[in-house]
Amino acid sequence: MFITFEGVEGSGKSTQAKLLAEFISQLGHKVTLTREPGWGQLGELIRKVILDNRDLELDAFAELCLFCADRAQHVRDFIRPKLEAGEIVICDRYYDSTVVYQGHGRKLDKRLVNKIAQASTLDLLPDITFLLNLPVKTGLTRLQSREEITKMDEEPLEFHEMIRQGYMLLAKREPDRIKKINADRDILEIHSEIRSVVSELISSN
Ligand SMILES: Nc1ncnc2c1ncn2[C@@H]1O[C@H](COP(=O)(O)OP(=O)(O)OP(=O)(O)O)[C@@H](O)[C@H]1O
Ligand SMILES: [Mg+2]
Repeated sequence: MFITFEGVEGSGKSTQAKLLAEFISQLGHKVTLTREPGWGQLGELIRKVILDNRDLELDAFAELCLFCADRAQHVRDFIRPKLEAGEIVICDRYYDSTVVYQGHGRKLDKRLVNKIAQASTLDLLPDITFLLNLPVKTGLTRLQSREEITKMDEEPLEFHEMIRQGYMLLAKREPDRIKKINADRDILEIHSEIRSVVSELISSN
């Protein structure tokens, strides 16, 4: 089973992904928690260029290709082998992030972005995606207390609003896969909702 987390900056993806991984592990299943961008040798380089290098103003299309290059490698060399070995894999951000950040945020041609983002999954789509829905400002405020600030976090408010809208559109388009979760609540309340969805999925599999 392949589970992904999506949402605006600071919406609680990493927090919830970690709690879910702990829960699944307690149930006795093998689980792997990973994130995008930045897996492996190529991912580390790409993450640095995309998110940390402030001397380089990346072209939007170049950025799209880098995110997708990172993903294809991540799927082929890490995620797919884990799934084939019977593990449950949780990924903190996946191709929906590319669709909304590059399509809605950077305003690249949406059809092109969708196509390239889809291709970068090597046909591996998530069984379920939790979209943590939170007002942009709330998420950004939460991040102020955090040390690791990336270039994406520094984008203007309007950029993040476009991202949120993009996610809403995706959720409407794919209601079966993308489960919208109200993330403006207590951490454990959110976790408990996610947990019950995943428990049900695991028992029906
Ligand atoms: N439900 C919540 N209520 C209040 N604070 C929260 C909640 N969930 C997470 N936080 C806090 O908000 C901050 C951001 O959370 P987290 O890192 O999980 O978000 P994220 O979506 O992974 O962010 P990013 O997009 O930057 O990766 C952290 O300091 C976390 O402890
Ligand atoms: Mg995170």
